[in-house]
Amino acid sequence: MKDLLDIAPLGRAGIETLLDLTDHFVEVNARTIRKVPALRGRTIVSLFYEDSTRTRLSFETAAKRLGADVMTFSVSSSSVAKGESLRDTVKTIDAFGVDAFVVRHSSAGAPHMVARWTDASVVNGGDGWHAHPTQALLDAYTIRSRRGRLDGCRIAIVGDVLHSRVARSNVEAFGLLGAEITLVAPPTLLPPAVSTWPVRVAHHIDHVLDDIDVCYLLRMQLERQAQGLVPSLREYTSCFGLTADRHRRLGPEALVMHPGPLNRGVEISQEAADAPNSVITQQVAHGVSVRMAVLFRLLGSGQQIEAVSEDL
Ligand code: NCD
Repeated sequence: MKDLLDIAPLGRAGIETLLDLTDHFVEVNARTIRKVPALRGRTIVSLFYEDSTRTRLSFETAAKRLGADVMTFSVSSSSVAKGESLRDTVKTIDAFGVDAFVVRHSSAGAPHMVARWTDASVVNGGDGWHAHPTQALLDAYTIRSRRGRLDGCRIAIVGDVLHSRVARSNVEAFGLLGAEITLVAPPTLLPPAVSTWPVRVAHHIDHVLDDIDVCYLLRMQLERQAQGLVPSLREYTSCFGLTADRHRRLGPEALVMHPGPLNRGVEISQEAADAPNSVITQQVAHGVSVRMAVLFRLLGSGQQIEAVSEDL
């Protein structure tokens, strides 16, 4: 495997291999010294053309904990500000000699193009509305770690599906792992192709609350919204928000998830976000371990993780 651009090419077996590998890195991250020399001497570039807090820091933390060198590219202080193209930027960085690019871009397909321009590995860190494979892997890992398996798990993905690369990758990953998925959104925030997806659809959160094991809230993507897709944020919250009352109805066993960043008071209430059955912080923590697994799988030159772990 050279690149990780999408979930589908992994198939169920490929996803499970990465989740099993993640177990080892969760163990590494529980140590006092959270570092293994698995990718010592390798160089990883984070090429983020879009804002990010957790994805970027998570990848950079993962790379450093594997002993790799990290180069950080900042759009605002680079020659992109002088009009340099994505291709020229990639070719320039490639000429330094790098082993992997982690790419986030507002255009769907940008990481796929980067993968054609370089022999280095490319990881999709989120492209437009299209895909966010490592988010899906860390979400699947979080559910698996709490429930043992995703087979038969009833998952509601609630909110702005139309603008969400997280929803697209999660539908693929959760579906391949055997979950039963319901998308909960107004018709204006669902993609036209949704009828071809392996999901059920509901148009009000109250219709699903009693029958789900996981309530996955999507961020209301204010920056991607054309005006008028929802009448008002208050109205959105009244039909799709996990309010304190709804959270109580959900029951203590059901997991509350969100990819971040949270719009507290819009798609998720303070009470739900900070409740004992909210695993939002665990999602973030697992993100580092999952990304260590991905980078190790792409760049680890066939070493066994056990051997690397004992090397300390
Ligand atoms: C998501 C993203 O940027 O795709 N955040 C993340 O990576 N955790 C979700 C979002 O911004 O809505």
